[in-house]
Amino acid sequence: MSDTLTIFEKGAPGRRAFTCPTLDVPEVDGLLPEAFRRGTEPRLPEVSEPELVRHYVNLSKRNFDLDSGFYPLGSCTMKHNPRLHERVAALPGHARLHPLQTPARAQGALELMWNLERALAEVAGLPHVSLQPSAGSHGELAGVLLTRAFHADRGDVRTKVLTPDTAHGTNPATVTMAGYEVVKLGTNPDGGIDLDDLRAKADEDVACLMLTNPNTLGVFDHNIEEIAEIVHEVGATLYYDGANLNAIMGISRPGDMGFDIVHFNLHKSFTQPHGGGGPGSGPIAVADRIEPFLPRPVIVRGRDGTFDLDDERPKSIGKLRGFQGNYGCFVRSYAYIRSLGAEGLRDASETAVLNANYLLARLRSLGVADELPLAFGELCMHEFVLSGAPMKRDLQIRTLDLAKRLLDHGFHPPTVYFPLLVDEALLIEPTETETRETLDAFAEAIAEILREAAEDPSIAREAPYTTPVRRLDEAGAAKRPVIRQAL
Ligand SMILES: Cc1ncc(COP(=O)(O)O)c(C=O)c1O
Repeated sequence: MSDTLTIFEKGAPGRRAFTCPTLDVPEVDGLLPEAFRRGTEPRLPEVSEPELVRHYVNLSKRNFDLDSGFYPLGSCTMKHNPRLHERVAALPGHARLHPLQTPARAQGALELMWNLERALAEVAGLPHVSLQPSAGSHGELAGVLLTRAFHADRGDVRTKVLTPDTAHGTNPATVTMAGYEVVKLGTNPDGGIDLDDLRAKADEDVACLMLTNPNTLGVFDHNIEEIAEIVHEVGATLYYDGANLNAIMGISRPGDMGFDIVHFNLHKSFTQPHGGGGPGSGPIAVADRIEPFLPRPVIVRGRDGTFDLDDERPKSIGKLRGFQGNYGCFVRSYAYIRSLGAEGLRDASETAVLNANYLLARLRSLGVADELPLAFGELCMHEFVLSGAPMKRDLQIRTLDLAKRLLDHGFHPPTVYFPLLVDEALLIEPTETETRETLDAFAEAIAEILREAAEDPSIAREAPYTTPVRRLDEAGAAKRPVIRQAL
């Protein structure tokens, strides 16, 4: 029988997982100010330790995770997170450092952060970094606010931000949140920005163009220098959405392409574990002219080599979050960069691109391309987009059905129905950490699902069969979440 009880519905009154030893020091009352006291005891689960352990271990087994299988979720760079990084982040000097320590007593942490900033600056090709933002989307918000501060400083008021129609949803959402109007740019037949559309829309009201290169179609836009020129000519900034940095680390640098502001998703390219509501990190790198506006405080190194936090930043956009950001993420990503080195990062990107092209070629060799053609181009960068439109027409199964049936083969589905401009889109990103055997098995699973659908499409339409839950009301789960039990 499947266990659907919450931890509060398990156990029995008085049952405990841990019993404290008798107090052998004087009890002190009143340490916690009255305002912070609830007045009533919190209701806690009353369970034994085995019940507690089993509850959470069983819950964890009902999820699909990167540690148990291939997770080719395009645009998300679900790569292996080396265990070494967890050990380093758990060292007491890192894990137990209190965020309220004075800079004088946190020199090691500040030095690590300063070094990480330098390393990220090198990868971005831009000189200044702030580690504060907590996610890619938070980095985007920082970037757009920086753009506004940069223009405002010159008495320049602008109202619009350009985003391509291939952009991730967080780009237009960020623009709206920052109070600008979103203006969409079209895509040319090669998958890059439609330059005529850009020229027509780039005017002195435009504050910024937000772009990712390679973009979410897995296509590198070779017109990037011309794009940068058009954008800079009207006095706008060029923003790099770094979600696709895994394709170009150590090979080409956004700063050299002409970008002014870049965000990194440390939980994508730099092996910080991804998602699950845990802490994330989305540092930003910027050009000299944007530097005065960076979030404060900034980490500075004195002439004697000691580190400090500089809060005297009159033009700063202010603080974006408490303390300096998610420190544990910095430790993991720094460990990654130091253990791979410049050559290793380049190798990771080259292998990511090679793996994506291998998988694409393997799918073609299995005869899948007729039903699932590549949406743009012939080759790809670190990810590629297939269109499920012919499959839907010929085999009567949709991209969603294919994705669900993949779960029965033990694979997490790729991203589906994004980018929006591709009909029945399937966005696949294998990353560099997968073996050839895994890529082969995934390609064979897709071919098998198509063969099966040719015989009986209802099998895929009703999948999955082997997961703890079958088809869910996903829109309902997102729009009307029930995330806690009423107490
Ligand atoms: C292309 C792109 N841009 C931005 C983001 C936003 O990043 P985050 O999820 O860290 O907020 C994502 C996330 O998947 C993305 O794929």
